[in-house]
Amino acid sequence: MNETLKVLESRRSCRSFKPDMIKKEELDAIIKAGTYAANGMGQQSPVIIAVTSKELRDSVSEENRKIGGWDEGFDPFYGAPVILIVLADKSMPTHVYDGSLVMGNLMNAAESLGVASIWIHRAKEEFDSDFGKNLLKKLGITGDYEGIGHCALGYAAQPPREAAPRKEDYVYFA
Ligand SMILES: Cc1cc2nc3c(=O)[nH]c(=O)nc-3n(C[C@H](O)[C@H](O)[C@H](O)COP(=O)(O)O)c2cc1C
Repeated sequence: MNETLKVLESRRSCRSFKPDMIKKEELDAIIKAGTYAANGMGQQSPVIIAVTSKELRDSVSEENRKIGGWDEGFDPFYGAPVILIVLADKSMPTHVYDGSLVMGNLMNAAESLGVASIWIHRAKEEFDSDFGKNLLKKLGITGDYEGIGHCALGYAAQPPREAAPRKEDYVYFA
């Protein structure tokens, strides 16, 4: 199996991160891979917000926790020091697909560098709310964006678990 196929098969979601910040060159390479995802009509509808400050990371986590309905103190980002938030321009009919492909690239690029990752949901609700709208405003991001997902990144605190077996009826050759 070549290295790319190995990475695609070995990536697993991480739910326990070390607090250590990942290396700048790793972060840059992961983000760059995200920006090269295929996208509808070549319009590059997504944007990526790279959250590395602990203060902002904690406030995104808190907002996500509230949306998810978890008890106070729960961190839906499992301690990850970096959150890459992917949003996409609603004016493109392909925006959800575009943003999802960015998420895939981010997670697979992370795996290729030995950086652990997980897709954390509820970005849509986050950016439908004043919290998200204010963040976009603060960053000078104008336009009508939908939150697609958060790619939490960091070094794994525990070895990855085995992938679940693939279901029998996943593929139909016709
Ligand atoms: C759209 C999407 C949303 C997800 N949201 C969450 C989430 O909010 N919290 C979480 O712990 N895992 C989340 N995950 C991770 C999945 O649970 C995980 O990908 C799945 O169990 C398969 O495991 P694997 O990624 O290790 O192959 C999400 C994955 C996707 C694709």
